[in-house]
Amino acid sequence: MSKPIIFIACDTTSTKKVRKIIKESQNSKIKFGYKFGLEFLNSKNGRNFISKLKNKITFGDYKFADIPNTCAAAVKAVKDLKFNYLTIHLSAGKEALRAAKKVSGSTKLVGVSILTSLDNKSLKKIGFNKNVKKLVKIQAKLAHQTNLDAVVCSGQEVEIVKKVFKKEIITPGIRFNSKTNDQKRVLTPKQAYKNGSDWLVIGRPITKGDIKKNIQKLIDHLSQ
Ligand code: C5P
Repeated sequence: MSKPIIFIACDTTSTKKVRKIIKESQNSKIKFGYKFGLEFLNSKNGRNFISKLKNKITFGDYKFADIPNTCAAAVKAVKDLKFNYLTIHLSAGKEALRAAKKVSGSTKLVGVSILTSLDNKSLKKIGFNKNVKKLVKIQAKLAHQTNLDAVVCSGQEVEIVKKVFKKEIITPGIRFNSKTNDQKRVLTPKQAYKNGSDWLVIGRPITKGDIKKNIQKLIDHLSQ
């Protein structure tokens, strides 16, 4: 297997913790990128911290979901942070996806499909009458039609997405050494790569506890 590429989800409000995550994941057998989600992006010092990061692969996980004009304006508003990847919910709809893609420039625009914390039962409760697999397939087609650069989906839907969307696939909901937490559709890193994910997103299994030891466990898991 070629060098695995993994985004570490830096889910914290502490710049000190993010500095630690970056320091302890450098010079690894794994190529790491850093994903910043709503927690860090909305924290007091988050934006300023990201603006000073150099030579890192960065992922702004804003999960935009709004009307087309607002989505496009939001993509423009974070341009100065020069993210390599930026997310928008596929459920924002075709027009919003098109509008955001039009202004995303060299940043890869990533469409987020049904969250990995939801399962068929949860979808029913919010009024969807299609199951996860069917919805994700429809959403992947939307990503293809709007020329997005990547799709986020659980490891369990990678094969379905690959049939209709031919670019990068990014998979969260990865577990190899710990609890599922709030995630419902989880897979191990090996299973996700086997299914065809290009990038994995891993948060708590790396960032909780001893980061270096967790990374070593991940390397051991991948080389088994
Ligand atoms: O800690 P954990 O590995 O569960 O973190 C997963 C990360 O991926 C979180 O930052 C979460 O916001 C993000 N994510 C997700 N499911 C999606 C899209 C993003 O868990 N469908």
